[in-house]
Amino acid sequence: MTDVAPARDHTEVLPRSVRHDFPILRQTFNGYPLTYLDNAATTQKPQAVLDAITDYYATANSNVGRGYYQLSMRSTDRYEQARAVVQRAVNAEHPDEIVFTAGTTAAVNLLADTFGRKHVGCGDEVVVTGMEHNSNTLPWRRLAEQSGARLVVVPVSENGSVDIDTFTSVLGPRVRLVAVSHVSNVLGTVNPVREMIAEAHRRDVRVVVDGAQAIAHRTVDVRDLDADFYCFSGHKVYGPLGVGVLYGKREILAELPPYQVGGGTVKGVTFTAPVSYVPTPARLEAGTPHMAGAVGLAAALRYLDGLGRDAVSAHQEMLVRQAVDALNTLDGVRVVGDPASAPNGIVSFVVDGIHPYDVGGHLDQHGIAVRSGVHCASTFLDSMDLVGTVRMSFAVYNTSDEIELVRRALETLRPGPWTKDRPTTRFL
Ligand SMILES: Cc1ncc(COP(=O)(O)O)c(C=O)c1O
Repeated sequence: MTDVAPARDHTEVLPRSVRHDFPILRQTFNGYPLTYLDNAATTQKPQAVLDAITDYYATANSNVGRGYYQLSMRSTDRYEQARAVVQRAVNAEHPDEIVFTAGTTAAVNLLADTFGRKHVGCGDEVVVTGMEHNSNTLPWRRLAEQSGARLVVVPVSENGSVDIDTFTSVLGPRVRLVAVSHVSNVLGTVNPVREMIAEAHRRDVRVVVDGAQAIAHRTVDVRDLDADFYCFSGHKVYGPLGVGVLYGKREILAELPPYQVGGGTVKGVTFTAPVSYVPTPARLEAGTPHMAGAVGLAAALRYLDGLGRDAVSAHQEMLVRQAVDALNTLDGVRVVGDPASAPNGIVSFVVDGIHPYDVGGHLDQHGIAVRSGVHCASTFLDSMDLVGTVRMSFAVYNTSDEIELVRRALETLRPGPWTKDRPTTRFL
């Protein structure tokens, strides 16, 4: 073990009392307090979100936009207020640019089946990067297979980032759409999406941004990015499971065909006459939406505002830098990519000769929850020739002490059953 003094000041920005807002963190595992470092998979929920959901069910629950009685109007109001909160959070111009979905995956599938089917045809190209999550690859791959289009993959450079010139070089005349993650869920790399969007727009190409890993860590301003579409999941930003957001520019959403059809999407129906659909966003939200989810998501975004977006970003930057410093003191541990250069809450690492599942299992013995494996992005892991990584991902409630716990636990790491018996096995 090399003894390297911490190079930077790691003063915490958020008060430690933030932890008390999250009831789940009071648990212990194997006698250790829960150290939850799998926030890129899903974040924990503050009491304010749990209360908002309970309050919705206790005081407003009824179907939305479908009843001419006070309770229904109340639930409709709460749902539309939640839409306005999301609108402000991402600086969209109009509330009707916010479509509630079940999550990022649902939002990307919606786009592939509507915008994609309308604009991508045989011989056309859809561009993704080599670092995408399966949820931002498979819907486009399926679209390409069904339409006869080609999926073009922008290679990721050695340090785990997408070079803007490499990206621009693939933007040929047949490209109809670019789908790119704002932040990599594997390495935390921040893509230059603003520049990528500008280059795509110069060629009249629309851009879908997968913001699943950005929304909890940085201020997202869809107008500043000039994103055509921006997708994220509520559960990754302290909100409930099962709700997410598709932002789309008003004029582009307006020309999308309906996605799923059913209740809430139509003005009036006969069995034979052409169907007349309501405008977006309701046209794209067929069936009873997740009203309590939307209300909970709004509460989560308000909670983050209360902490201060800048403080939240600074806190997570500090934790990333501290984690990198801590891991760099350990022999045989290698940080993948360069998370400290533009910290975004994620640090992935590998340990020489030890399978990532054994690392995860060992940390779990110390009450530490991390994700080990391919992070739903095996194509990216393949390109780096890795069986998997161990990923620490941070949230507002994590502390410097927890990083020190990880460092100390890693000092006693030994090869376990995966390393010995199934060294090349990997799942998710
Ligand atoms: C970058 C990225 N995109 C998409 C998703 C899919 O999100 P969800 O499962 O909430 O739909 C994830 C989830 O990990 C992700 O990290």
